[in-house]
Amino acid sequence: MKSFIAANWKMNKTISETREFLREFIPLVKNVSDVDIVIAPPFTALSAAAEAMKGTNVQLAAQDIFWEEKGAFTGEVAPAMLLDAGCTHVIIGHSERRQYFHEDDAAVNKKVKAAHKAGLGVIFCFGESLGEREAGKTFDVIRREIDKGLEGIGAENLVVAYEPIWAIGTGKTASPEQAQEVHAFVRDILRRLYGSTADGLRILYGGSVTPENISALMACPDVNGGLVGGASLKTDSFAKLVCYK
Ligand code: PGA
Repeated sequence: MKSFIAANWKMNKTISETREFLREFIPLVKNVSDVDIVIAPPFTALSAAAEAMKGTNVQLAAQDIFWEEKGAFTGEVAPAMLLDAGCTHVIIGHSERRQYFHEDDAAVNKKVKAAHKAGLGVIFCFGESLGEREAGKTFDVIRREIDKGLEGIGAENLVVAYEPIWAIGTGKTASPEQAQEVHAFVRDILRRLYGSTADGLRILYGGSVTPENISALMACPDVNGGLVGGASLKTDSFAKLVCYK
């Protein structure tokens, strides 16, 4: 299976910083053929990034999407607009969207459906909080988020990302054992939903992934890639992540 490593820049980088990053980064990874490399800049930098990525092995993702096609939805961005800007993928259901912007499972599901319908690759995120983990609810939360978020969605163009909220931006990575335990559980859920197709789906781990810890995480049988925030903001660090082998 080809691994999948995505940069989630969150609310970082201007257009010129994006261009500068890509000018340095693209040559560093040009010979990488066994990893899908994806970068998700903020909306404002998408088309500049698309321009810089043209003809390269680096693909473009948005960090969010809205489910309507067009109309009076101030501040929102439609699926066709993301395609028009050059995106091949979109991140949906990130815990920061769920936490700060009150996205619930139903909203996430509508976004996944709209992205899928438009032909965008979906990077679907889920994961438990520290409180939920400590209360022994990790598996229940994850089962609910996946079942509701992916309800009615086919397996094509789908990548899923386990991001324990307690590990995001905290420097506290899940251990390879903790990640594998959840990823194996997620694989079983995906088998229930998609049968044997699930064995070919990429399950990413996200939460304080660094060049130092990626190899141990990627050595887990059900960890097929990473979704990287902080460590994706510097060219050398993200290039090292992509070239983890
Ligand atoms: P982090 O963020 O790598 O900074 O922990 C990961 C994410 O939120 O996607």
